[in-house]
Amino acid sequence: MPESKKSASSPRGKAAGKKAATAAPKSGSARGGAKSAKRKLRAAVVGLGDISRLHMPGYVDNPDCELYAVCDCAEEKVCACVDCWSPRKHYADFKELLADPSIDIVEILTPHHLHCEMVIAAANAGKHVSVQKPMCNSLAEADRMIEAARRNGVMLKVFENFVFYPPYVKAKELVAAGEIGEPLTVRFKLGTCMFGARYYPLSVELWHMLEVEKGMGQAIFDDGYHKLSQAVDLIGDIDVVRGWVDRSFAYADMPGALMWRYKNSDCLGVFDLGLSPNLYNKSNYFSADERIDITGSKGSISITRCSAQMLDAPALTLVKGGRRILFDDIRADWQDSFADSTRHFAKCVRFGGEPLLTGERGKKIVQFAYACIIAGKTRGEIRPDDLTDDVIAELNK
Ligand SMILES: NC(=O)c1ccc[n+]([C@@H]2O[C@H](COP(=O)([O-])OP(=O)(O)OC[C@H]3O[C@@H](n4cnc5c(N)ncnc54)[C@H](O)[C@@H]3O)[C@@H](O)[C@H]2O)c1
Repeated sequence: MPESKKSASSPRGKAAGKKAATAAPKSGSARGGAKSAKRKLRAAVVGLGDISRLHMPGYVDNPDCELYAVCDCAEEKVCACVDCWSPRKHYADFKELLADPSIDIVEILTPHHLHCEMVIAAANAGKHVSVQKPMCNSLAEADRMIEAARRNGVMLKVFENFVFYPPYVKAKELVAAGEIGEPLTVRFKLGTCMFGARYYPLSVELWHMLEVEKGMGQAIFDDGYHKLSQAVDLIGDIDVVRGWVDRSFAYADMPGALMWRYKNSDCLGVFDLGLSPNLYNKSNYFSADERIDITGSKGSISITRCSAQMLDAPALTLVKGGRRILFDDIRADWQDSFADSTRHFAKCVRFGGEPLLTGERGKKIVQFAYACIIAGKTRGEIRPDDLTDDVIAELNK
């Protein structure tokens, strides 16, 4: 760690403020009521791996929250992050970070299997928590996380950024305004391509493989979490799922075709997934061909991209009344969805309001994802609401 970058709270410094571990949040929190916090909030980002670089810009010129501290158990990642983003403090030990009473919000960007215990520890330390998707690996873990946030009076947000992707946000507004009439079908496409993306560290692939071994398919449970989250956000809760899911290259849960009925809408949902090993798809992020088509009783909406730009087409198109309306100038960089998500949560914490997604919603998406995985395996009809961890363990062998 470069000497000049060491802070008073260096991991090798004194165990700063251990007694502050139960400090109450000072901001407009659930615990403190929905009152407005006068000062800017202070966030700490924990887990400075691959995705963290997309979280940091959300704090630049953020009127409600500053990047105050960062933490990773890998020293070189802390150094690189401190060099780039100049947080006031940095830690190698998560427990020491939690003891810092100045921190209002903790963003957890660690591998999935660590989310549950880290969220609970952060909530117990009185911090508001944002945790990257997928929320956790089991329904029992989700319940414990929700309960810890409730008990400590802090907000819990599952950071699922696709619901903040500006073309999607606009599409949702158009649907709500009745521009396409009654939604009849909504189709999500995920085409994973192996060429055209930026560098992706092998270390990230490795821990993902271990999750896959435990039955959490990378396409449906991990990347699919985004699409399933949008599916619920757009239309509502899921009644029943059916599908077929095969395997590619031994571990990838693709190709697949899933479909579902909603509880309170006649709209039907479809999600198709495929892996194209030799398809080049240029992206600054992940090389995924992601599209959404929403068909309504008097119009249709297409979103043609998200993390990559497969088609030379506007990000968003509305067809109605015999006309095509192209949203050429809409913000459509995938990174915008991260910044908008970060800013939204800071506003919720500072001024009151419900985060998108709450812990409860995050749990529903975990349940929906398992329903898709199990429907794809058993080829039967699966109701997400019927799933418990025991049922999942039995059916997802
Ligand atoms: N929203 C998206 O589009 C998107 C994309 C990729 C990843 N993610 C999610 O982000 C999370 C992290 O993924 P990633 O790709 O950045 O993984 P990564 O392996 O690159 O980063 C994880 C980091 O956590 C650190 N870490 C592990 N244990 C720690 C501990 N106890 N204390 C402090 N640091 C610790 C590791 O050293 C590593 O730097 C996952 O939940 C993943 O699903 C989301």
